[in-house]
Amino acid sequence: MRIALAYSGGLDTTVICRWLKERYSAEIITVTVDVGQPTDFKRIEERAYAAGASKHYYVDARDRFAEEFVSKDIMYNGLYEGEYPLSTALSRYLIAEELARIALREGCDAVAHGCTGKGNDQLRIEASLAYFLPEDVRVLAPVRELNWSRDEEVRYALDRKLPIELKESRWSIDENLWGRSITGSELEDPWTEPPWEAFKWVKPPSSWPEESEELVIEFERGVPVALDGRRIPLRRMIEELNERLGAHGYGVIDHIEDRVIGLKSREVYEAPAALALIKSHLDLEKIVLAGRCLRFKSLAEREWTELVYAGLWHHPLREALDKLVEELEKDVSGEVRMILERGSVRIAGRRAEKSLYLKRLITYSSESIFDQKDSEGFSRIWGMELRLRKLREKLNRKLKKG
Ligand code: ARG
Repeated sequence: MRIALAYSGGLDTTVICRWLKERYSAEIITVTVDVGQPTDFKRIEERAYAAGASKHYYVDARDRFAEEFVSKDIMYNGLYEGEYPLSTALSRYLIAEELARIALREGCDAVAHGCTGKGNDQLRIEASLAYFLPEDVRVLAPVRELNWSRDEEVRYALDRKLPIELKESRWSIDENLWGRSITGSELEDPWTEPPWEAFKWVKPPSSWPEESEELVIEFERGVPVALDGRRIPLRRMIEELNERLGAHGYGVIDHIEDRVIGLKSREVYEAPAALALIKSHLDLEKIVLAGRCLRFKSLAEREWTELVYAGLWHHPLREALDKLVEELEKDVSGEVRMILERGSVRIAGRRAEKSLYLKRLITYSSESIFDQKDSEGFSRIWGMELRLRKLREKLNRKLKKG
């Protein structure tokens, strides 16, 4: 038997690598997908072999992640429950796709992943695998199946001399370029404030610069293309923004999240670039899209965000929504100016070639070309529904008298 395993190099996937090999007398092919997590990939490869893999793949998917997944999250202003920029969720689709591609190329009989039975990731990975793989390729989820505690995993790893790091941080962290999710330890108490050491990009107040900083993002068709006048690939822009915005203390999210399976969890994230890019994109949309388009788009955004959160990236509804949103985003080109200061990002200006904000119409100065008298008849008729009952009563009185 040959099994392709999505391998992060952490305790879970290291333990299941060996477990799968022993349980199925299988040949294990490990697959590590780089979506911007700060890892020594050489070490991960060594660890995979030490855990029993016979072949290892490293896939650098950083640019693809930015261009095909993160860019969509920006176009959709995608924040699940209004807060979470879907960083982990989006990455799972790319990881599952690469895993399936390699499994097919290697002629594997099964694929395996390290998701637990409590989270959303199992749904995202397995729905995508079902989309990419033929039905006869088995999907194995040993962490969910074994239901071991961390201590049991550590014991298994020590017994077999697997290469694990015991001095890992006290939190469980999932990181990619679009955000960091931090869970576990004291954060499981929703009343406890996250300590500053939990964050990597976002700095504590004691180190915030005195001076505020200005930043200009340029968008083309809804996607950021330049930062302060420099055109740079989206991935690089995000990496730079995480540092620059984080230095001013901006980018923490702390909310109670509803998982697909119905559990509530306390989620702490840092995502400075994601929050600022979505905020500025939304601001630009407001100057170029008609009000009715904005209001309708917000319905599509909510549906998209829920599909992506819930594992249904490959759903035909998402493809249909994409057509609508791509059409609307055609006009979303322009610039947004932001000020970073002491823990916040404030939008301070926006401009666009196709701006529907027309000063000559809105101004109260003598330059106005809007003739206010035009509104007189419109305004009288606008209240029609409110007047109908009164008019009816008046008519009835007349009929009675007459
Ligand atoms: N709650 C978020 C989500 O479901 C983040 C989960 C973090 N995942 C993880 N494997 N640590 O997308």
